[in-house]
Amino acid sequence: MNPPTTRPLIAPSLLAADFARLGAEAAAVEAAGADWLHLDVMDGHFVPNITFGPLVVKALRPHTALPLDVHLMIAPADPYLAAFAQAGADHLSVHPESGPHLHRTLQQIHALGKKAGVVLNPATPVEAVATVLDLCDIIMVMTVNPGFGGQSFIRSQLGKIARLRTMIDASGRDIVLQADGGITSGNARLALDAGANCLIAGTAIFQAPDYAQAIADLRTG
Ligand code: DX5
Ligand code: ZN
Repeated sequence: MNPPTTRPLIAPSLLAADFARLGAEAAAVEAAGADWLHLDVMDGHFVPNITFGPLVVKALRPHTALPLDVHLMIAPADPYLAAFAQAGADHLSVHPESGPHLHRTLQQIHALGKKAGVVLNPATPVEAVATVLDLCDIIMVMTVNPGFGGQSFIRSQLGKIARLRTMIDASGRDIVLQADGGITSGNARLALDAGANCLIAGTAIFQAPDYAQAIADLRTG
């Protein structure tokens, strides 16, 4: 294994924050050292839960200078890309299963001037992204099944992270490799050693008494 030596990015997932105080929660994790703010958009159709849409992303935008890392768990995604871009999203990540034309979706995200990501569910193989690496700025490996925070980390995804790290390094492209779901200070090191260079965490940060300490603990693994 050949893990990246650069400082890993930490992206708190607002899904585990106090939804009555989203602006303050975003500002608090920024002050606590977060690198990106991860926003989980769920439609009750692609995943069995509903969260928020572009209006909430737009409302959050003035509350933080962090890049807004928007994870779209909606199907179809294409009709909503422009709305999320205009709302202030910096990154738009989609699941291959959310539409029949992943390549076109990634092109559309770039045409909107945003960074494009592909998200792999636990059962989705690395091959799902292999032919579109040239259009990826981000690859996100789900280490839980998408839809809910607070689930247990699925260890079998570590091998997938390692295979993607090899693919990314071979491509020579600067693609951020994220792990999303069930990340704690107890397993962060596993994901980082497998090759992830960005950890997404909801519960481990927002349910911790000290956000800065929680973020620091994840970063050091
Ligand atoms: C799950 C989401 C995750 C989730 C992570 O569908 O994509 O981003 O918020 O939450 P924790 O860290 O609690 O597993
Ligand atoms: Zn997510």
